Amino acid sequence: MTLAADQHFQHGGSGYAAFRPTYPSALARQLAALAPNQQRALDVGCGTGQLSVLLADEFEAVEAVDVSADQLKHAEARANLRYQQSPAESLPFADNSMSLITVGQAAHWFDLPRFYAEAQRVAQPGAVIALVSYSVLSIADPLSAAFRAFYAGALADFWPPERRHVERGYADLPFPFDELQAPSLRIERHWDCQTFLGYVETWSAVKAARRQGSSAVVEDFARQARALWPTGQRLNIVWPVTCRLARLS
Ligand SMILES: C[S@@+](CC[C@H](N)C(=O)[O-])C[C@H]1O[C@@H](n2cnc3c(N)ncnc32)[C@H](O)[C@@H]1O
Repeated sequence: MTLAADQHFQHGGSGYAAFRPTYPSALARQLAALAPNQQRALDVGCGTGQLSVLLADEFEAVEAVDVSADQLKHAEARANLRYQQSPAESLPFADNSMSLITVGQAAHWFDLPRFYAEAQRVAQPGAVIALVSYSVLSIADPLSAAFRAFYAGALADFWPPERRHVERGYADLPFPFDELQAPSLRIERHWDCQTFLGYVETWSAVKAARRQGSSAVVEDFARQARALWPTGQRLNIVWPVTCRLARLS
């Protein structure tokens, strides 16, 4: 794990499991339909299994790896899903053994040339690789403006440089393959204030702000959010999902 990734993911697996949104099940269905068969999929940088569990509905067997023991400790179990601790750059699988390789919101942390070499090694002929990410959320009024000011203003100095890839939907992440047209999807949730603030706590920038003694910026926003949030209501939150997709030869 890079030092930056280590700081962000060594702890906090329980927060991830509780608050990180999962992907639309249509994403796993569409990826499975593109794969040459539905026998074995691999989810790399799986976190607590946000994408892995959806793949488990579509494939006979799913392997999921993450470099963080703490994330894996809180991962969601399925009978046909096996989690292992491993870096993306050195995968514990045989050559030609996977028909789909996914990465959910993690590729910007990887040493990509080394990961891509491993992906090509473990891919069956015609296997599909998918780098999935979801970028900055939009939240309904009356939170919209306060949220934008917090995300791009108060937290500006605390986002790691890797974050820019997520904000651009991985558009400028090196992807040296013949690209396929990717599905256009979004994640949508109706959350109460407490769940929303729990999710905010999983952000790398919030963890960095707290580590660097700037918890006040987070507390200020939490106070503002509680004051603005309509009592007893849930607000609509949307994340656009983007995907870089290719077939490996
Ligand atoms: C933002 S989380 C994403 C988790 C999950 N895939 C999702 O879609 O929500 C990024 C994950 O990448 C993992 N990670 C970072 N660098 C890694 C590496 N080099 N190899 C494997 N996993 C890595 C972290 O431990 C973390 O669990």
